[in-house]
Formats: sequence, structure tokens, C-alpha cells
Amino acid sequence: MRKNIIAGNWKMNTTLPEGLALAKGLNEALKGKTPTCDVVIGVPFTHLASIAAAVDLTKIGVAAQNCADKEKGAFTGEISAAMIASTGATYTIIGHSERRIYYHENAEILKNKVNLALANELAPIFCIGEILEEREAGEHFNVVDKQVEASLFNLSAEDFGKLIIAYEPVWAIGTGKTATAEQAQEIHAHIRQTIANKYGQTVADNCSILYGGSMNAENAKDLVAKQDVDGGLIGGASLSVEKFLPIVEAF
Ligand code: PGA
Repeated sequence: MRKNIIAGNWKMNTTLPEGLALAKGLNEALKGKTPTCDVVIGVPFTHLASIAAAVDLTKIGVAAQNCADKEKGAFTGEISAAMIASTGATYTIIGHSERRIYYHENAEILKNKVNLALANELAPIFCIGEILEEREAGEHFNVVDKQVEASLFNLSAEDFGKLIIAYEPVWAIGTGKTATAEQAQEIHAHIRQTIANKYGQTVADNCSILYGGSMNAENAKDLVAKQDVDGGLIGGASLSVEKFLPIVEAF
């Protein structure tokens, strides 16, 4: 059956010493504990190797927040999936709404990123979600279906089985406005059905679908109690151990 996962997304926060201290603090806090979910931290590229070397990788998975859509070569400033994998990281976030909106990453680009991540044995945490106008127009189901179809449905069932989906309504990210547990359950169940229609019920049942958007210690329990909510992608509340740990313990 599918895994429960709590993943932090630090975004463009922390210098290397600050990030190392945060990762070590989390590592320390998890010592002697056996979380009932996988714990992942999505850290800046510059921190990957140091953090992967500093934490117990059997307890904390390390993720990049993006990867290049090209394999290698003359792409100044880009970081390839192979480079990420060589640091000890085993995940990468792909298609976060901030990348789609601010850096114009479209479905085709994201498809390439997913393929390259998988080819380098990184588990993609693939983000989808609608903007407020789309939710208000009742378009949210269509929007997430299209995002999944356009970037993921070229994959074999075997490869699809290696990725994690994060449903993040854009109107809930960093706004303090969380989707209700009922809203999350409704759309997560819909996404799972869309996957089942393409790959069959077993693949759909095995796919972890995380919720993201202002998830915190207060609302995490209600969200993860829902049948189709398999964890969370946490931005703001992943930047301190005191805020992140209660979310890890929400299951
Ligand atoms: P937030 O961010 O928890 O700060 O809303 C979530 C995300 O963007 O992944």
C-alpha cells in the first residue's frame, strides 16, 4: 500500500549554516523516534550534499526543489538530475506552482524534468493545483487532470509508481488559507480516480497524494485523517523543528 509522507519545502530560505543547523536539529529530534510516515526535506541546491552527509538518510530523505529539463551540457546555471542524485538526495520536487508561474515552466518542460529525475533514480514530487479563479469557476478538477495527463501520462505504469503527487491549490500556498479537509479529500479522490482510469486501481491505490498549502501543526491531523490524503508538502511550517515535528507526528 501507499506510503504516508511529510515533506518540507524550504523554498529559497536559509543560508548553508542555517540550513545545516535546521537539518541537524530535525535529525536530533527524530532520534529514538519511529515516525509513522516518511520524512523528506526539500532544500536549496547549495545545501544538498552537506545536508545529505549530516542526517540519517534512513530517517530523513533529502530532496531538491527543481531539476533541469536537459541531461547535461551547455546550459549555464542549471542543475541536472544526475548532479542532484550524486549528492545523496533521492527526491526532487517538480512543477511547483512558483516554478510554473514565475519561471514559466510548462507541461512539456515538466515532462522532461520528470523523465530525467526518474532516469536518475530520483523520486519526483510532482505538484499540481488550481489558482483561485479556476476554483471559483468550478474548473479545479479539469485543471488537475490536465496537469497530470500532460506531464505524467506518457510514463509506464512502473515509472508512474515511483512518483509522488502533491496537490497544492495555489490560493492556499503561503496565504494562511488552507483547503478544508473535505475539499482536500474530494479532489484527492478525484485525482486518484483519474490515475485509476489510466493505470488501473492498483497503481492508483499505491500512489501517495500529498496536500500542500498552509498546512501546519493545527490543521495537519484533520487533513491526514482523510482517506486519500497521504501526507503533506509543507512550506512555511517546515522552517523550524518546533513547527515541522508536530506535522510529522500528525498520523
Ligand atoms: P506553505 O507552502 O506551506 O507555506 O503554504 C507550501 C508549498 O508551497 O509547498
